[in-house]
Amino acid sequence: MASFLVARDGSGKVIGAIGVECYGRSALLRSLVVSPGYRNRGLGARLVAKLEARCRSLAVTDLFLLTTTARDFFSKQRYQSIGRGSVPVALRAAAEFTRLCPDSAVCMTKSL
Ligand SMILES: CC(C)(COP(=O)(O)OP(=O)(O)OC[C@H]1O[C@@H](n2cnc3c(N)ncnc32)[C@H](O)[C@@H]1OP(=O)(O)O)[C@@H](O)C(=O)NCCC(=O)NCCS
Repeated sequence: MASFLVARDGSGKVIGAIGVECYGRSALLRSLVVSPGYRNRGLGARLVAKLEARCRSLAVTDLFLLTTTARDFFSKQRYQSIGRGSVPVALRAAAEFTRLCPDSAVCMTKSL
């Protein structure tokens, strides 16, 4: 199961988004982006918090992600770096792990 959350400005324009793919009690956080003109105002952190709340409501206990650009941002959201070998097998089969993210991407996790 996959779903997305979007943030909109006052006129309804999408200014941020985040997605999740659920694999039972584990889930892959993906595709977080905030429009350049809206960065560094807390929107990215709020999108992550909203997504975490949705995951908790779906009984997800552990979130995972891959990033090449935002390791320090996710550290501030209390995600920890782990080796890919620690990721559940079902998630490792996801497209982001197999095709979309380079081997140099950092894998991170957070228990909800
Ligand atoms: C990463 C991103 C989503 C952050 O969104 P944002 O709305 O600017 O983030 P916030 O304003 O909520 O920042 C929260 C904290 O993280 C910090 N931060 C933001 N972006 C950061 C980054 N790229 N690296 C390190 N720290 C970052 C902020 O300074 C802030 O710190 P503070 O709480 O000490 O003030 C945004 O920069 C973005 O869209 N980047 C391009 C796409 C991308 O890299 N996505 C991640 C894919 S995994």
